Amino acid sequence: MVDQLGRPMRDLRLSVIDRCNFRCTYCMPAGEVGPDFEWLQASQRLSFDEMLRLVAQFARLGVEKIRLTGGEPLLRKQLPELIEGLRQIQGINDIAMTTNGILLARFADALKAAGLDRVTVSLDALDPEIFRQMNGGFASPDQVFEGIEAARKAGLEDIKINTVVRRDINMGETVPILEHFRGSGITVRFIEYMDVGGATRWTMDMVVSSREILSRLARHYGPIEPLRDGGSAPANRYALPDGTTFGIIASTTEPFCRTCDRSRLTADGMWFLCLYGAHGIDLRRPLREGASQDEIGSLIARGWTNRADRGAEDRKALDLRGPLYQIKALRKDPHREMHTRGG
Ligand code: GTP
Ligand code: 5AD
Ligand code: SF4
Repeated sequence: MVDQLGRPMRDLRLSVIDRCNFRCTYCMPAGEVGPDFEWLQASQRLSFDEMLRLVAQFARLGVEKIRLTGGEPLLRKQLPELIEGLRQIQGINDIAMTTNGILLARFADALKAAGLDRVTVSLDALDPEIFRQMNGGFASPDQVFEGIEAARKAGLEDIKINTVVRRDINMGETVPILEHFRGSGITVRFIEYMDVGGATRWTMDMVVSSREILSRLARHYGPIEPLRDGGSAPANRYALPDGTTFGIIASTTEPFCRTCDRSRLTADGMWFLCLYGAHGIDLRRPLREGASQDEIGSLIARGWTNRADRGAEDRKALDLRGPLYQIKALRKDPHREMHTRGG
């Protein structure tokens, strides 16, 4: 099954909760929308059983990879039970999670035992003050390190670090972060700051492009070699002169929509085909109104085969680029938030 641009559907990002215990400036900045965000009630959230029924249909239509996201996925209670269920679904051969790492030390063993394969941890700075500026002052990098260490001890493979780079805050942290993880087997990936949902103060000036990140690193380390081997989107892979590899996710200046095989399901069952998409397809309603598995499958198949979006490319083509949404528009529909659709 392919969409209008010939893209297959392989990767589903499953947001399990909209809440987060951080307030990252680029995702859900504190105080921006009023005293707090509008959160889903427990009854609005899909149950694990509902999620598994939906994922079974996605898998039947080609999805092989599930990435658990949030908000912060580890705030969803009993998450290992969901992972156990996902493991049983035929066709799903990779289960990963993107987390801020704060609760990872507590849950790493249970996640691994339940069948989680991989984990990606967000870490934007080593310096505690810069970390606080980026992430909202709720924790320290030491807590994230503990989580990473626990994940490694638990045997979670292929641990990755996500660092969103902002010119005005943490641009100076790229070398320290690479140094910290050099030789550890953990891969660092730098991410261009994107003009998505909650990034309501985004300006192009704050984006440090992949090209600039590379030239800064080359000034420090010497020539950097692009790696072509198996480097699949979203990250382009590179090697430092000593062989240390790292990635750059250049969604803002070098979009990869042409090969996009992903979609995202929010915690309340809205299915978004594009990270930048304004509207989703409600899968919870038919599920709760008693639609058969076949009917749900047809709905998904129709959604994907009609798909033509390439949001990041459209954004790049704009002459004047500002935030995707103003606060009012986000308030009107929280599904537009980055923390709701899980990146
Ligand atoms: P793997 O491919 O399994 O390694 O996961 P991932 O890199 O897709 O997941 P992760 O949650 O680590 O996402 C990394 C960054 O890529 C985040 O900043 C995401 O917002 C961004 N990203 C993820 N999916 C998309 C997408 O479909 N389009 C765009 N433009 N950016 C994305
Ligand atoms: N730009 C780039 N990356 C972002 N993320 C969240 N908001 C943005 C943004 N505005 C990333 C986080 C996390 C992933 C799920 O999404 O860093 O690693
Ligand atoms: Fe896919 Fe949309 Fe991201 Fe492009 S912007 S890579 S189409 S999700």
